[in-house]
Amino acid sequence: MWLINSSVGRKVVMSLTGLFLILFVTFHVLMNAVALISLDAYEAVCEFLGANWYALVGTAVIAGGAVLHIAFAFWLTMQNRKARGNDAYEVSKRPANVEWASQNMLVLGIIIVCFLGLHLFHFWAKMQLPEAIGDTAAALSGIDALEATFSQLWVLPVYIVGFVALWFHLTHGFWSAFQSIGTTNDKWICRFKCIGFWWATIVVGLFVVEAIYFAWYFDAFAF
Ligand code: HEM
Repeated sequence: MWLINSSVGRKVVMSLTGLFLILFVTFHVLMNAVALISLDAYEAVCEFLGANWYALVGTAVIAGGAVLHIAFAFWLTMQNRKARGNDAYEVSKRPANVEWASQNMLVLGIIIVCFLGLHLFHFWAKMQLPEAIGDTAAALSGIDALEATFSQLWVLPVYIVGFVALWFHLTHGFWSAFQSIGTTNDKWICRFKCIGFWWATIVVGLFVVEAIYFAWYFDAFAF
């Protein structure tokens, strides 16, 4: 199939799954923002999502998108390294017009995957998973999971490292995705760079505000 057999097709898969994940993080940061306004309302949203069939289907779709994105990222990187042959090992200076993020997308992605592993252990493994396997007594509520996580001070700096990696990854990934699906016009690439920069800054900035607020609210700074 073209999407798998050609490198252009594989880039299209990366772009579409990347744009889907950008939509997910946007939804996610807005859902968390409910907790900044009212913890009761946040609890209601968590209960609504819970382990109902539609939430489980949603989780499976998100996981599928993330797995495809990561698998194709490794595949394309290996393919590029092979194509460059010995040049891959040359110590070369970064050209002035190439962003730092564009040369480090794989490393940024790996940092985000490490962050995600920890994050899913903190939340998904303690909320949706026990409920889905029928161990409802062990499942934490949204507020309890927030407290268990953010009351530990070390969590905040570790999450912020993940957010910074996410910011760099998104600022490059956003416009690059549109370029890979066929927007070659210079004027539009400039526009997508600008939109991507602000989108990533607002989304990641809000994640940072949320994490600092939860750490403060759940007394991580109290000694
Ligand atoms: C302040 C920052 C964050 C907070 C408070 C937070 C909170 C949560 C909570 C409460 C859940 C569990 C939802 C449930 O199982 O019902 C969750 C799941 C999840 N989070 Fe976060 N999150 C944050 C940042 C992020 C970031 C930056 C990413 C992505 C890079 C992310 C990706 C995910 C994913 C993939 C899931 C699993 C989704 C699912 O089960 O459908 N989160 N998060």
